[in-house]
Amino acid sequence: MAGLTVNGHIVDIDADPQTPLLWVLREHLGLTGTKYGCGAGLCGACTVHLDGEAAFACQVPLDAATGRAVTTIEGLSPTGEHALQRAWVAEQVPQCGYCQSGQIMQAAALLSANPRPARADIVDTMSANLCRCGTYLRIVKAIERAAE
Ligand code: FES
Repeated sequence: MAGLTVNGHIVDIDADPQTPLLWVLREHLGLTGTKYGCGAGLCGACTVHLDGEAAFACQVPLDAATGRAVTTIEGLSPTGEHALQRAWVAEQVPQCGYCQSGQIMQAAALLSANPRPARADIVDTMSANLCRCGTYLRIVKAIERAAE
């Protein structure tokens, strides 16, 4: 049994300590907004926050997340009205949508650390998250809109 804080709630997880956090979130807690893309730390579809910093949930074992604050896309805003979520809608960012929760979580960590990022900072940070539909330009525009 491992105690984990997810979106402000303490939960007990009965799983192997080496279970990737991604599967704990999806399979044990039903938080399916965090996506499986590569499982190898290469795509960013599984991006969540650990103590406010972006992390790839497929690369974090349960025991490494225990005692830390995990935030998923479901916990980013209780109303879905985070500035980034509004900007994502306004800029009509998603195409297939699969990678977008990871993109938003990466962007949210960026804006927390740097509320007025230069375009180069946005491009550099967001290069960690891949989008097979190529929505990159709209992602940058949405982050700039949210930062205004
Ligand atoms: Fe975690 Fe691709 S699924 S980085």
